[in-house]
Amino acid sequence: MYYAVNRNSIPVIGKSLLGFTLKDGDFSENFEMENVRHSSFNETWQQVWGEELTVNNTYNQMVVNLKEKSGAQRKLSVIFRAFNDGIGFRYEFPEQENLKDFVITDEQTEFSLPDGGKAWSIPAYHTEYYEGLYKPSAVNELDTVSTPLTIEVNDSLYISIHEANLTDYAAMNLTPTNNANVLKADLTPWSTGEKVFANAPFSTPWRTILITDKPGDLLLSRLMLNLNEPCKIEDTSWIQPSRYVGIWWGMHMEKYTWKQGARHGATTANTKRYIDFAAKYGFSGVLIEGWNYGWDNNWTVEGDKFSFTKSYPDYDIEELAKYAAEKNVRLIGHNETGGATINYESQMDSAYAYYQRLGINTVKTGYVSALLDKKERHSSQYGVRHYRKVIETAAKYRIMIDNHEPVMPTGLQRTYPNFMTQEGVRGQEYNAWSSDGGNPPEHTTIIPFTRGLAGPMDFTPGIFNYNNPVYPNTCVQTTIAKQLALNVILFSPLQMASDMIENYEGIPAFEFITSCPSSWAETIVPEAKIGEYLTIARKDRSSENWFVGSIINADKREISLPLSFLDKDTKYKAKIFRDGDNADYKTNPYAVAIEETDVTSQSIISLRLAAGGGTAIMLKRLY
Ligand code: NOJ
Repeated sequence: MYYAVNRNSIPVIGKSLLGFTLKDGDFSENFEMENVRHSSFNETWQQVWGEELTVNNTYNQMVVNLKEKSGAQRKLSVIFRAFNDGIGFRYEFPEQENLKDFVITDEQTEFSLPDGGKAWSIPAYHTEYYEGLYKPSAVNELDTVSTPLTIEVNDSLYISIHEANLTDYAAMNLTPTNNANVLKADLTPWSTGEKVFANAPFSTPWRTILITDKPGDLLLSRLMLNLNEPCKIEDTSWIQPSRYVGIWWGMHMEKYTWKQGARHGATTANTKRYIDFAAKYGFSGVLIEGWNYGWDNNWTVEGDKFSFTKSYPDYDIEELAKYAAEKNVRLIGHNETGGATINYESQMDSAYAYYQRLGINTVKTGYVSALLDKKERHSSQYGVRHYRKVIETAAKYRIMIDNHEPVMPTGLQRTYPNFMTQEGVRGQEYNAWSSDGGNPPEHTTIIPFTRGLAGPMDFTPGIFNYNNPVYPNTCVQTTIAKQLALNVILFSPLQMASDMIENYEGIPAFEFITSCPSSWAETIVPEAKIGEYLTIARKDRSSENWFVGSIINADKREISLPLSFLDKDTKYKAKIFRDGDNADYKTNPYAVAIEETDVTSQSIISLRLAAGGGTAIMLKRLY
């Protein structure tokens, strides 16, 4: 069985194998087509939160029903959907006599890519929790890599391979084959070697291939979301995108500890200070890490010691919940599991019920450990099942989830919009302690086109004080203006202003963070080059205002930004937070200039981005 993809009659994906190896033998050959059904579909639907309000879902579908020509005559269907910006396909194992329970030992799906592409990837298996630096290479030179795998074929053809709706299956990686430019699905195995245990009727996740002319159009594709199921949560009024602060960077800077002791960060007094700050600047909540029993020993191997309801003695959770509520702020729960999912699942219901009673409506989860339950990989079917259970259980208690050390996202937030954001990216914390010095300036010009295509990223921009007493050679490698711009560039419906609060007081640039929304009515990408620069403009959901972020790698750059996306015949007040005249990410990162000017949709703003710099703009509509 093969498929191929042409776009405007030009081959994009060459003849590529389809099929499976099951535990009891090959399931890819000896098929005949029983019938082929074609249909078309068109709808628009609204996102509870997202990069725009309304999503268009238009495709042509082809269902190919297959049956083995002889022997057990087992059935398999392949469903293809062709969109304007790519395709998706999935396999369905229909209910049938001769295929009931089955075990997938290999998925044979291939992707035969065009010659000459430059692929941006991180190695699968050797990169902890997808926290790697994406590197460019020829498709031919790839090792086994994670998806999304994004390929710049030439300057008018971009491809990104990933998956949608990863349900009760293993995550897909891509591995080279003996044929040049042909990559094959590589499913993360169970510790016993099998890939997927299934019962018919059964559907695999969708295999997705975005195909666009411009890199910016990759960012605007909603193909992955369209291939997920509609929202299953009836009342979504409690699901609220927002910005928050946290007792967090202080731990990564080793000013505080998660564990008990003289430098314990999660104390009642410290948390009150954060609540006061959140109330003063309009943040919705305060994340408190290290509040609960379990941190005192090596928690990455003793995750089963974590209690998710028992606070440390110097953290009065009941009093703090009351104090926060009086100030219209919420505590944000933190459930680091150390990868001990069995322990977590046994406490999940009681913990979430407790949090709900305390008014905690957001929980950040974590799975720092080599393997889940010392045995299974995070991206295996085992991990996928656990992460889903967390989202579904959290929804019952009206809790939003921010999942760290996740399996790569696949658009499940359409179905479960309480699944707000995830890590699975090399984020800000690497600027605290990474022995390689921190995230290089080009990193944030690459991740929107790679990891970012899989869904919201909890990168946590917003560090203002680069002084690193513990690791003096490790540092934020951006200007402050770029830290601001990242709030627009890196989409996440929950955004933490990540620095310690004392580093924000009295800094004028902080206004951009407190003003910037985290859910949008509309998004456009005026210019983009993977690994070099990116400008994004987004319209607020709850006002007529626009926000712009523009970032650059280690180079400098001048750009002219036409404001043609603004409403016609209307004036806007632009507040521009730009790199100061002598700003440079290495030598002068703190120099920011703030300027105000009136603009219209006819205006063209000139931006000067310093090396490693950026610009953030608020455009307030004047009525
Ligand atoms: C790693 C997470 O990414 C980070 O945000 C968190 O502070 C620590 N684990 C502790 O859970």
